[in-house]
Amino acid sequence: MKPVRLLPWVAVAAALTAPRWLPQRVVALRGKVFELVNGDDAITLPNERFGPDRFREVYSHPAAGGRSEGAGLSDLFWYWLSPGPEVHQEHLEAGPRYDDVARTTQRFLAGSSDALSATAARCAAKVLDELVPGELSVPRLRDLMMPIWAEFNYELVFGEPCPRRARELIVGNAADVVNALKCTDLRHPRRRARLTRYLRSRVDAGDVVHELPGALSTSEQVHYLQGTFFNTSVVQLSEGMAHLLLVLAQHPHVQRRLADEPGDERYFAHVLDETMRVFPLFGIAHRITTDDIRVDERTTLPRGSVLCFSYPDYHATGHQDPESFDPSRWERLSAKDAAHIPFGVASNRPCPAWRLSPLAMRAVTREVLARFRLESSVRHTRSLPSRGPCVLVRRGTARDTRALLRFLRVRDRWEDVERSVRQLVLGTWMVLDARRQRLAGRHFERLRQQEPPPGCPAHR
Ligand code: HEM
Repeated sequence: MKPVRLLPWVAVAAALTAPRWLPQRVVALRGKVFELVNGDDAITLPNERFGPDRFREVYSHPAAGGRSEGAGLSDLFWYWLSPGPEVHQEHLEAGPRYDDVARTTQRFLAGSSDALSATAARCAAKVLDELVPGELSVPRLRDLMMPIWAEFNYELVFGEPCPRRARELIVGNAADVVNALKCTDLRHPRRRARLTRYLRSRVDAGDVVHELPGALSTSEQVHYLQGTFFNTSVVQLSEGMAHLLLVLAQHPHVQRRLADEPGDERYFAHVLDETMRVFPLFGIAHRITTDDIRVDERTTLPRGSVLCFSYPDYHATGHQDPESFDPSRWERLSAKDAAHIPFGVASNRPCPAWRLSPLAMRAVTREVLARFRLESSVRHTRSLPSRGPCVLVRRGTARDTRALLRFLRVRDRWEDVERSVRQLVLGTWMVLDARRQRLAGRHFERLRQQEPPPGCPAHR
């Protein structure tokens, strides 16, 4: 056959097999575009030279403390997290403002374990009974979890049950942030601003249960609440639960054991550790070095370096068969001694919800498993852009789900193709727009201009 005649067949074969090869290629290409546009000469750890032992040492180093100033990457994160990225705890540089904000976050998260679990269980029961009334349903897990965590965080902040309107505003805000972060959609600043206005009215009315950071103006306090509780907290807990429930849907024996023995805290801890080992919520956490870091006799990481700490690579070290999901590995292993940092490293700005998250997630898992059996045939990846489609069968009803699962699998593979192309296009657009807006870069320039010049008395 002539090559010209072959071409249409090659095109048809490429199109038909696209679900198998296209998504990974597009993800790789997106990574390259991001690297190129951000312009940081970043060092990713662990790498061939510096393994897992050095990873922890460098991450914990006092000079690995810069968060935003001096990295092109920050313009992109600030763009995604707006409004108020400059007062988000994750992005504040060390100093009195950071300390004030971090202390305030601790106050909100400090309830007793029993009280926090009871609040999470009550919010889950209310939302599940309202949104999943039938015997069989096929939600996307992240979407199902968001209203639960919206209600939970509302209660942490305002100390009363969450009204429907507030829940919609919170879910609208959190979903908008995470969709933009995953490049499945563009940002909708007006949607986010609706929540800002609502929170402002509540702060002005004195409705917040704890004192807000005194170092911040009122509009900064509102942005702090929005960024920490109605974005990060809702997003992280919803993503974490989507991974956990999807894992249970695809490992029926693990699901059965958790459903049959809801009081077995140890087994739940193993399942959660294994879920977060394989699917850590952070792909990369970055730091900017505030001083030189001497790694060995031959290598010094100069001040101003952008360090990228890769959680998936670190979590994969020291395990046999690291890709496979196996909670039983934690029977022989302590999470403290393993290469395992789902909530970050204790000495360098770890997650303030380190204690709260597992116990609240356990309470919600119990509510879900008490009501439903879960099954799913979709692809489970760390970034989970599909939001985790899953079949929920009410306990006590018998349903043949085989045809539905086949349909889900095929739909998922084709959605992956369309989505990966969309992510590439929208991601590239947002990276360029973030670079044009330079939110972080301009913020730090303004701060430097306000600083008294060296030599002036105020400087001493
Ligand atoms: C499953 C749940 C969660 C996981 C796995 C998780 C994971 C993490 C990780 C790994 C970090 C450190 C990143 C780094 O070193 O840069 C972090 C930081 C942070 N997390 Fe979480 N998180 C979760 C839930 C939450 C919740 C519920 C909140 C609510 C307040 C929260 C708020 C924060 C904040 C404010 C930081 C920045 C800390 C700082 O820089 O001082 N996270 N989280």
